[in-house]
Amino acid sequence: MVICNEVLLGDCRDELKKLPENYISACITDPPYNYEFIGHRWDNDEIERRIERITNSSTLVKNIPYGSGLAGGVRNKRWYERVQENILEYQNWCYEWAVPLYTTMKPGGVVAVFNSTRTIAHVQIALERAGFYTRDCLVYRRHSGIPKGLNAKEKLKKMGNPHYEDWEGWHSCLRNEWEAIIVVQKPLENNYLETVQKYGVGLFNTQTNAGTFQSNIIEGIQREKNEQFNVHCTVKPLALMKKLITIFVPLNEDHIVLDPFAGSGTTLVAAKKLGVNYIGIEIVPEYMDIIQKRLSLIHIENDESSEAQPEIPITQPQNLRLFD
Ligand SMILES: C[S@@+](CC[C@H](N)C(=O)[O-])C[C@H]1O[C@@H](n2cnc3c(N)ncnc32)[C@H](O)[C@@H]1O
Repeated sequence: MVICNEVLLGDCRDELKKLPENYISACITDPPYNYEFIGHRWDNDEIERRIERITNSSTLVKNIPYGSGLAGGVRNKRWYERVQENILEYQNWCYEWAVPLYTTMKPGGVVAVFNSTRTIAHVQIALERAGFYTRDCLVYRRHSGIPKGLNAKEKLKKMGNPHYEDWEGWHSCLRNEWEAIIVVQKPLENNYLETVQKYGVGLFNTQTNAGTFQSNIIEGIQREKNEQFNVHCTVKPLALMKKLITIFVPLNEDHIVLDPFAGSGTTLVAAKKLGVNYIGIEIVPEYMDIIQKRLSLIHIENDESSEAQPEIPITQPQNLRLFD
């Protein structure tokens, strides 16, 4: 059975095994960043617990930034051990999807994975353990949020420390202004030109709209308004996903772009709009409805309008917050 232009419901560690060998031209994906898993085991029970929670509750599941002051008070030996165990579990979990992903990628096919600046190294190692070769680490520069760490001056002032002013400007973290996108590649067949002639992929499109040579910093991306029915909490800008697809695959129907952590389907929508085939995988059924609705609206949108509303309302819990 040929799978193409479809979204599969399930755990990508299983679903990826259903895809043929040497089949996918590029994988562009934004998996969970591990933030919520401090103090929880990164295993099937935890995933089940979270699916249950998202389906049955309207409570916000907060992101606890990895290593921030919110993540647990005292930094004792046990705390550091738990953080270390947790990130290694995350790396192993990444390895579990990277292995079947490797099989289904074409030689020369690029895998681009988003992650936070603090966790990206583990994603890179997991992908390398699965057989991929690292090509680059892109910077997606975006507007920064408010630093959430410790403000030493304010804290000491509250504690009545007379020297609090000495600590003006000292915080426990810097302002976070970029996300990392690790770019790895399935090994070429002999060399670039043989691979590109046989599989149609392996090189980067370096021409920008401005006529410059594409750099590895992506910035100035406008975030469009999400459709009202799209209540996913970590939607990437459509323009960003279009940009990445344009760099990694020739825009024609000979290619399939895969997103095994589809979320609300932004990668798939971008591929469809660019005339490239897509395959998505998503574990939460409610998100599947959002993806299908976004994909089905494409033919009635002209590329610029994302305001169109679905004819059939989607019923689901508000404030879906999971696996960010
Ligand atoms: C960060 S979100 C992706 C958001 C997406 N980039 C967008 O623009 O909508 C990650 C998604 O991966 C899904 N997910 C988590 N674990 C998964 C797994 N094992 N298999 C498939 N999907 C999974 C989550 O439900 C979540 O929707």
